[in-house]
Order: sequence, then C-alpha cells, then structure tokens
Amino acid sequence: MNTSFIIRPMSLNDFSELTEVIDTSFLWLARSLALHSVREGQQVLISEAQGTAVGFVKLTNVQVGSGKFGRVLWVAVHPKFRRRGIATALVKAGFESMTHAGATAVFATVRRRNVASLTVFGSQGFRKIGFLELWRLFGMRIFEFYKKIWLAPWIPVLVCD
Ligand SMILES: CC(C)(COP(=O)(O)OP(=O)(O)OC[C@H]1O[C@@H](n2cnc3c(N)ncnc32)[C@H](O)[C@@H]1OP(=O)(O)O)[C@@H](O)C(=O)NCCC(=O)NCCS
Repeated sequence: MNTSFIIRPMSLNDFSELTEVIDTSFLWLARSLALHSVREGQQVLISEAQGTAVGFVKLTNVQVGSGKFGRVLWVAVHPKFRRRGIATALVKAGFESMTHAGATAVFATVRRRNVASLTVFGSQGFRKIGFLELWRLFGMRIFEFYKKIWLAPWIPVLVCD
C-alpha cells in the first residue's frame, strides 16, 4: 500500500503519539527503555503520515577514543503503518543525519530473530560485524566500544560505513 509520509525531527508534541507507537511495538522492558530515550526528543526523527507520528528512529552519538560514531538505538513503526517503507526511510535518514554530523560509521544491534529489522537495516547497507573486525577498528578500545553499545553477547552488532 502507498502512504505518503514525511520525516522530520521530533517535537515534544509528538510524544503521546510516539507512546502509542512504542506501546504497540515493544514488550515491557524495551518499552520503558524506548519511552525513556525518546522522552526528551533529542536525536529523534519521526515519520508523520496523515498528520500523525507513526514511527521514529532514535539516534545516539558514540565516542570511542577520538573516533566519532553513531548508533541507531531504536526504530519502530506503528503496526497500522508497517510494510510501507517507513522504517527503511527512517534508517536511511538517521544514517545520513549522523554521517552528516561527522560519524565515520553507524552501528546498530538487532536480535537474530528480528527478521523485519535485519531486513530493513540490510537494505540500507548495514552488515554484521564480528569481534575480529571490531578489533581491527578499535584495538584495545574494543571493550570501551562494547561497554557503550553492546546489549548482550548473543545480539549481533551491525555496521554501516
Ligand atoms: C522492524 C520495523 C521497524 C519495520 O518497519 P516497517 O516500516 O514495516 O519496515 P519497511 O516497510 O521499511 O520494511 C522494508 C522491508 O523489510 C522487510 N520486512 C519488514 N517487515 C517484515 C516482517 N514483519 N517480516 C518479514 N520481512 C519484513 C520486507 O522485506 C520489507 O519490504 P516489503 O514490505 O517490500 O516486503 C517494524 O516491524 C517494527 O516497528 N517492529 C517492532 C519494533 C522493532 O522490532 N524494532 C527494531 C528493533 S529496535
């Protein structure tokens, strides 16, 4: 189905609509973490369709040593608006925004079973990056990197550079 939507920075007025997106997209722990991280509206891009916020991407800066990187922390789309390319557009806009601001690579962590999310990130050039490649990138600072972005050892790290 074709739906026209725009992507723009979040304003605080979007919060109640994003709360519904989060409530319908995540289970309890992720839900409260996601709510917490969008509450202040910093580095959040939203997709607006039919005058309503129907999806969002939350971005964060990751500094490792002197290296500047970005991370897509959350992406979600209201169930009524899925499979219309909205998450794909949000991830693309998020990547562009972070690289424009100086990030040399953008990371994400996605559970193996989350085929929808892996497909969305994959379509935008994100690929799995393992320990050895991260070691080549960060050297001994790899542990600083893991501490900043890793959720659990079994959750793959994706990179787009
Ligand atoms: C993952 C998520 C953000 C995808 O949003 P979306 O707007 O529906 O994604 P898109 O429309 O851009 O999907 C692009 C492609 O990804 C794949 N895809 C998306 N959802 C899929 C699904 N449920 N199953 C299989 N493939 C899927 C398809 O190839 C799709 O292209 P197509 O519709 O032309 O077949 C959405 O399902 C969601 O909010 N899930 C819950 C929250 C979540 O898991 N977030 C990610 C971790 S933070």
